[in-house]
Amino acid sequence: MNIQVSAPAPAIGLDGVPAAVTALSHVDGARGELIIAGRRVDDLAGAVDFERVARRLWAIAGAAEAPALGPLRLKAFERAVEIGPVLKGMTPVDALRAGIAALDVPDGPDAAAAITAAVPVMSLTALAMSEGRPAVAPDPELSHAADILRMLRGVPVSEGEAAALDAYLTTVSDHGMNASTFACRVVIATRASLVSAVTAAYGALSGPLHGGAPGPVLDMLDAIGTEAAIDGWLDAALEDGARLMGFGHRIYRTRDPRADVLKAALQRLAPDTPRLDFAMKVERAAQAKLAARHKGRALDTNVEFYTALLLDALGVPRALFTPVFAMGRVAGWTAHAIEHHARKGRLIRPDSIYDGAMP
Ligand code: ACO
Repeated sequence: MNIQVSAPAPAIGLDGVPAAVTALSHVDGARGELIIAGRRVDDLAGAVDFERVARRLWAIAGAAEAPALGPLRLKAFERAVEIGPVLKGMTPVDALRAGIAALDVPDGPDAAAAITAAVPVMSLTALAMSEGRPAVAPDPELSHAADILRMLRGVPVSEGEAAALDAYLTTVSDHGMNASTFACRVVIATRASLVSAVTAAYGALSGPLHGGAPGPVLDMLDAIGTEAAIDGWLDAALEDGARLMGFGHRIYRTRDPRADVLKAALQRLAPDTPRLDFAMKVERAAQAKLAARHKGRALDTNVEFYTALLLDALGVPRALFTPVFAMGRVAGWTAHAIEHHARKGRLIRPDSIYDGAMP
């Protein structure tokens, strides 16, 4: 098809255009509901552990039974130790991108589990080496979440902390046709390898309009600093045309249901902290200001606002927030890749509108 326009072209974001048929997750933006693997996110997170959710997603996608993640984390550690020195000195976000690209996971029935197991191992090994600490080998007996925190801190963590991270990983495990999942689908549809598709997906995730937002959420809270400064800071930022990180969503026209799941996880972990109290005041002020400025467009709290607070309470360094997001979302990416092939998905190749000069 040859589409040409001479007038100014519309800003295209493919809103409302279905790019896949999926049984993995469903986002109802009007009702503020998210279904993952057949269950509502508020019912799933905290009730079913991340590894079981990942295995359920792969099974729904059409995969044979996947191997356990624990031994695969251990296997990934060998590769991470080999690659780690090359990643030294990179930011954690860049190190994970290079680390995923360097995974030696051939396509096959175990690939989704192997990559899901490898993402935290690669990230945390590279971080330890960059900080001059000995990398902590995975413990295959622990849950995925407990082992991630143990590898990060070097000591075992409490059940409550592991449960909080587990709830987070499950909450972000899949989310319809978000930008990174779309990127994954585009690459896998060319019949490129699963490692290539996950590398592309992670690249898309790393941007501040997608999975790169939670670090800036904390930066914003720090910059505001005090309760008295909330209104003035937010007004000045909006006047400057800045986007308030952790607010707005392409699909949700109401509150992102994941925000409440993560807020509840945070309240279980660290109830009534001054930081949470302050953040909730910022949230209320931001909601009111965004509503006043964008009357026709609901801009409510998204997942990243409480992600930032939860990961911070778990002692995850800010620079690691996006890699930790990937540790959960990789389950969804790999499931979408499996589903694409299982449903005999076609090459994804949209059109463009040409508004350049004609010869
Ligand atoms: N703060 C201020 N204004 C905003 C915000 C925000 N957070 N979000 C949207 N707007 C404004 C836009 O400037 C635009 O205004 P205009 O019509 O006057 O130009 C209007 O609302 C509509 O915005 P769009 O760009 O059309 O919204 P889109 O659906 O493309 O973007 C997005 C969604 C990227 C999430 C956006 O809301 C945003 O940038 N939020 C901040 C970043 C963020 O929190 N990202 C994480 C998203 S969740 C996730 O990906 C896991």
